[in-house]
Amino acid sequence: MTDTHDPGFAWDLAKSRERRTKRWSVYGPDVLDLTVAEMDLPIAEPILTVLRDAIERQTFGYPIPAARSGLPETTAKWLTETHGLTVDPGEIRLLPELMKGITNALREFTAPGSAVIVPTPTYRSFFGAVSLADREAVQVPLLDGHRLDYDRIDAAFAAGAGSLLLCHPANPVGRIFSPAELRQLAEIAERHGGRVISDEVHAPLRYGVDFVPYAAVSEAARRQAVTLFSASKAWNIAGLRCGFVALTNPDDVVRWDRLPGAASGGISPLGMVASAAAFEHGAPWLERALAFLDANRRRLADQFADAGMPEVYHPADATYLAWLDLRRLGLADPARLLREKAGVAVTAGPDHGTSGAGFVRLNYATQPDVLADAAARIIQVLE
Ligand SMILES: Cc1ncc(COP(=O)(O)O)c(C=O)c1O
Repeated sequence: MTDTHDPGFAWDLAKSRERRTKRWSVYGPDVLDLTVAEMDLPIAEPILTVLRDAIERQTFGYPIPAARSGLPETTAKWLTETHGLTVDPGEIRLLPELMKGITNALREFTAPGSAVIVPTPTYRSFFGAVSLADREAVQVPLLDGHRLDYDRIDAAFAAGAGSLLLCHPANPVGRIFSPAELRQLAEIAERHGGRVISDEVHAPLRYGVDFVPYAAVSEAARRQAVTLFSASKAWNIAGLRCGFVALTNPDDVVRWDRLPGAASGGISPLGMVASAAAFEHGAPWLERALAFLDANRRRLADQFADAGMPEVYHPADATYLAWLDLRRLGLADPARLLREKAGVAVTAGPDHGTSGAGFVRLNYATQPDVLADAAARIIQVLE
């Protein structure tokens, strides 16, 4: 990948503010907000084209039934061709957002009251989804911050946990688990009759590292898995409310289809056409976006290294999130200090689980000058 920035991706921050989405709307003008997972990049042209067309046709009603939309076919083809997960369109269901899918899966596919194993640090909204499903989360910290702790996972299943909530690739640490690691997890889950819910929303955002979905590593994994994914992160369209679940266990399909509309509805027709455009025509844009993001993260690592603190950031396999090790400050939650002293907003490490103490999550999907400024401000506080 190249180390220079694609001029076609130049984007004025004022335009991000004009979007009036969560990003750049929470803090005042003096704070650089690198929290929420949206990107300061122009949206891919094939997506804009179908959205303009949908607006012309006033596509603002309830969505067409998914089975008649062609979207499950498009999605299954994309999943098979780009992730190597062979799925039938009949195994795909739509969702407005992935957290709803996690809550549904926990409620429907695990025993009432059974705990949910959550390797941490992880995506912070997982904890809310678990409690919404009336389940308790059992945090199992990643070993050395990036490896699954099989012994503790085994013990948690043995103690009655019914499922494990995997973030693969892992938000915030950026790790892609290898097929061998996932197979080992599948063997443990199989011994205990456990389910694995795998959130794979960040999978398209990977930097030359092979990605194999959990459901694709073995027959056991395919039966245990509930796989969640969408175009929302990689193509920056989270507000369009369209996500997907691949149900590779035939019994799950039957149970899912009995869900009331309140649990599965809320999908936007605009999100459906945008997702189809992303999967069918979004690859060239994504490749350019990844080159842009890759240049960003390399410069970020260089900036900390040049300041004599290379331990702060190591580029990872995937996502546009940097997991910054600020333990040199000796604070459990350095995010507040950075906001107050540096005017940089980042996500607090402990929000991602107890093992996040001393860390913060920084979203580097922004313009290079903004990122360089934020890093310089953080370095000043660290010094
Ligand atoms: C791992 C992960 N899953 C899900 C989401 C959000 O998905 P949704 O808005 O579709 O619930 C995010 C957003 O950052 C995420 O990082």
